[in-house]
Amino acid sequence: MSNPRQVTESSAQALFQAAAYPENIAAAACARETSGRGEREISRPGGTKAAWSRETYRMPYDRDVQAFDERAASYESGRHGRLHKEISDRVVELSLSRVPAPRRVLDVGCGTGYVLRQLAARLPQASEFLGVDAAPKMIEVARSASSDDRLNFVRGTAERLPADDSAYDLVVSTTSFDHWTDQAAGIRECARALTPGGTLVLTDQFSNLLWPTMLGSRRDKARTRSRATRLITAAGLREPQWHPCYAVIIQSVTAVK
Ligand SMILES: C[S@@+](CC[C@H](N)C(=O)[O-])C[C@H]1O[C@@H](n2cnc3c(N)ncnc32)[C@H](O)[C@@H]1O
Repeated sequence: MSNPRQVTESSAQALFQAAAYPENIAAAACARETSGRGEREISRPGGTKAAWSRETYRMPYDRDVQAFDERAASYESGRHGRLHKEISDRVVELSLSRVPAPRRVLDVGCGTGYVLRQLAARLPQASEFLGVDAAPKMIEVARSASSDDRLNFVRGTAERLPADDSAYDLVVSTTSFDHWTDQAAGIRECARALTPGGTLVLTDQFSNLLWPTMLGSRRDKARTRSRATRLITAAGLREPQWHPCYAVIIQSVTAVK
């Protein structure tokens, strides 16, 4: 008999769509309400362990961020929380199989920091785990969920990462890429932050089944392997390799700088 508490992979695709699309619809409504604002100035918190000093920089308005802010407090709970944890656990295993002993790890679109907490528990020799997320409440939750002082969470975007050049042996990003305003810029930033020889582990919805969604408001998104591979190689990363992650549409791609 099936365990009602367990999210099965057979239902995962439908559940993931249900998890993803409401926020896209809400975000689109939000974007309409605020259209015309363009970019806005934000202050990035200082005092981080990365060698960034306090500064103000331009952060692109992201239509999905408000929806994630509203979900931050309960993000790890319930069926959606279990689904994201199951995906994240697989990302952790894949990451450690590719980079068994990273010194510094960056998570782009880290949400509540679950992936970095799991990696930190497995990597006592690592010196830094930096999580970057555009949603301020996700960063608040991530900070309060961790007592390991090697973990550091900073508000920022994939498109302009508050991260040093060539500093991270492992850059991960899990179910965030689809929300980036400028995916090409975000991948270039991941490449910039990687050490030479470092590895990117990017996980999200990638499937030819998603072609119909790319005819509408998501038309500029890299939701297929071929589109994402093009962005990765254009950013100077090499050896892109695809790995099944979860159900049919959640896949990971690894690439090396
Ligand atoms: C579906 S959640 C995934 C969170 C976490 N990686 C996980 O697997 O549980 C997507 C996250 O990406 C963040 N995000 C959206 N656009 C972003 C951007 N342009 N740069 C950085 N983070 C972004 C959101 O705020 C949200 O926390």
